[in-house]
Amino acid sequence: MLKLFITATDTDAGKTYVAQALVNALVSKSKKVAVYKPISAGCERVDGVLINEDALLLLQQSNCQQKLSQVNPVAFEPAIAPHIAAEQLKRAITVSEIEQGYHDITALNPEVIVCEGAGGWRLPLGNGVFLSEFVIKSQQKVILVVNMKLGCLNHAVLTYQAILADGLHCLGWIANCQEDMPYLRENISELSALLPVAKLAELPFDTDIEKAAKKIDISTLTTML
Ligand SMILES: Nc1ncnc2c1ncn2[C@@H]1O[C@H](COP(=O)(O)OP(=O)(O)OP(=O)(O)O)[C@@H](O)[C@H]1O
Ligand SMILES: [Mg+2]
Repeated sequence: MLKLFITATDTDAGKTYVAQALVNALVSKSKKVAVYKPISAGCERVDGVLINEDALLLLQQSNCQQKLSQVNPVAFEPAIAPHIAAEQLKRAITVSEIEQGYHDITALNPEVIVCEGAGGWRLPLGNGVFLSEFVIKSQQKVILVVNMKLGCLNHAVLTYQAILADGLHCLGWIANCQEDMPYLRENISELSALLPVAKLAELPFDTDIEKAAKKIDISTLTTML
């Protein structure tokens, strides 16, 4: 089972967008793909149930008969840092509940699990614990989405170094070019030199997920199956 964790340089960097495209690409190669978005904030309450858009979008691309509550077990209504939302409800977010949810998904026996993080690599869960601890415990392989904008070189290198310092394997990075960045080519070539892993895609602004999916080089991933 290939366990992928999608992290990014920041919130709104394109984790969901890339995860959707990646799941689409794998499903189009007839792979059985499950999805996981362990923690979300900024959810909509519908009939008393919190609905997270990222989880819905991931679920739409996957082919593993999952329930939304299984895709996203920890959901908060306000669009704020999850540990603060949890504190307001006087509840703690634990790595073990996130691990349990992940374990339930592995029981579906997918070939690939695509898990989307929240925020960036060091997302605090509260009490000094970070979401990255879950990634370490479950030994997922990491894909780093870089939102190509001014400041991304620093964010990308720091994130990459933190992933390695956590003893994890970064499979590659994706240049998400959703805005017109001056000197985009020069920035991509600098990142290619600074990050010693494969660049899996360069994605331009395009709302068509299938088109984005076709731009991702999934050969490194499929050879691992
Ligand atoms: N290459 C792209 N082309 C078109 N739209 C994009 C692209 N990348 C991201 N977007 C859009 O930008 C917005 C932010 O991206 P996305 O939701 O994927 O970020 P995120 O990292 O998942 O954010 P969060 O931390 O909230 O989960 C979304 O509306 C998404 O569809
Ligand atoms: Mg997202």
